[in-house]
Amino acid sequence: MKLVIANWKMNPQTAREAITLARSTFSRARKIKKIKLVVCPPHIWISHIRAVLKKPVELGAQDVAFAKAGAFTGEISPAMLKHEGCTFAIIGHSERRTMLNESDTLINRKVLNALEGKLSVVLAVGEQKREGSRHVVDAVLETQLKEALKQVKAKDAHRIAVAYEPVWAIGTGVGASAHDALQAALVVRKVFAKHFGVAFGNKVRVLYGGSVDAKNVAQYVNQPGIDGVLVGGASLNPRGFAQLLGALR
Ligand code: PGA
Repeated sequence: MKLVIANWKMNPQTAREAITLARSTFSRARKIKKIKLVVCPPHIWISHIRAVLKKPVELGAQDVAFAKAGAFTGEISPAMLKHEGCTFAIIGHSERRTMLNESDTLINRKVLNALEGKLSVVLAVGEQKREGSRHVVDAVLETQLKEALKQVKAKDAHRIAVAYEPVWAIGTGVGASAHDALQAALVVRKVFAKHFGVAFGNKVRVLYGGSVDAKNVAQYVNQPGIDGVLVGGASLNPRGFAQLLGALR
């Protein structure tokens, strides 16, 4: 089953617009077969979206706190997200790594906290520049993964999906080639195999993200090592998103 994550980022600006977007995007979701669909609205719209969302679409958050509860101004805990119906949290998105200075250490704490809070994690990793050689890209991915997975127990590892998102491909209209996405997926699998055992290397779900749309989605998910996509911009357009899902069938 392919996993499709819709990341709305900081959109839309009102609850009414968010509800309209959810309704028009997911109204036919019941008919979607063989795709696990997760929508990640801004935290503040999560409960609004929950009220209109129909199964089997699941709810996710775009981020989660590194601590359980307490004096952490502005943070949202795993328990709060669970309570509002979220099953997933994206952690380590490059926009947070770069614009909000999130470090590998912080991302690791968030991963551990989310897993302890019984959320599933979509861990985002990816290199900054397009020009990097294969060797350099692999090294970046390996480091980000190794740091993020510190102290993660094998019994929790099945709740982690990894999204390979080259930073240069996000929101630019220029996605990675299917070949490069697959190479990155193999690196993810290698790291998981090393950390958690060979079976995990095969089992871990690896997604591609970065300028995915209806036209290019098939080339990624048709790769046997790629289990789905993380979609930003294209998830804000109900018709385009419907076409994207259609292209997955
Ligand atoms: P994009 O964003 O699809 O707009 O490139 C993807 C992401 O940032 O997750």
